[in-house]
Amino acid sequence: MGPTGSTVRTLGRIRKVSGVRVAKILITAEEIEAKLAEMGAAITRDYEGRDLLLIGVLKGAFVVMADLARHIKLPCETDFMAVSSYHGGTHSSGVVRILKDLDEEIEGRNVLIVEDIIDTGHTLKYLLRTLAVRKPASLSLAALLVKDEVDRPHFDIQYEGFHIPPEFVVGYGLDYDEQYRNLPYIGVMDTSSESTPHDVQDGFSLAD
Ligand code: IMP
Ligand code: MG
Repeated sequence: MGPTGSTVRTLGRIRKVSGVRVAKILITAEEIEAKLAEMGAAITRDYEGRDLLLIGVLKGAFVVMADLARHIKLPCETDFMAVSSYHGGTHSSGVVRILKDLDEEIEGRNVLIVEDIIDTGHTLKYLLRTLAVRKPASLSLAALLVKDEVDRPHFDIQYEGFHIPPEFVVGYGLDYDEQYRNLPYIGVMDTSSESTPHDVQDGFSLAD
């Protein structure tokens, strides 16, 4: 590996990863699992006897959605929306685009949006506004991560996992340039130019 632009092998493909690596684990797989169990139990209590539709926000929320849904001990349906607010970097552009809309109507349904992370809140603000006009019976929000110290509009987050510092994180569905989504933990990226890039496999071996 060279100091920059090391060639790494991930999932059978060769990718260039320039000066970027997972610097440390912020939240372990075990901590995530325990938190999702708590959140799932709270959702189960709150929605007992009501129709529940989980809406996962792709791509990032696909892992949270799969694991959280299995802690909800109620009949429920799932649907997904794909939105994009980042374009390959670590900063939000503020522009939210719908890449895939819901398959189902939500009028009269109890909708729970499942998000991976709330950062600037641009995505949520847009989604809440867009979904509210479709007249759901209720519209609530579950987010695994909420970034602290970020200036954003206020939302009620009915089910929240962890508050984290305003650093760029990857893993458990979250990506950097479409990489790292399959890490089983939440890690902090080291994007400093002085950092010696490590093979992406280091990110996996950290979890062992
Ligand atoms: P927001 O609109 O800034 O609140 O962020 C919306 C989306 O950006 C999230 O749902 C994530 O998919 C992505 N995002 C925000 N912060 C991070 C991060 O630290 N790492 C990876 N993706 C992030
Ligand atoms: Mg997301």
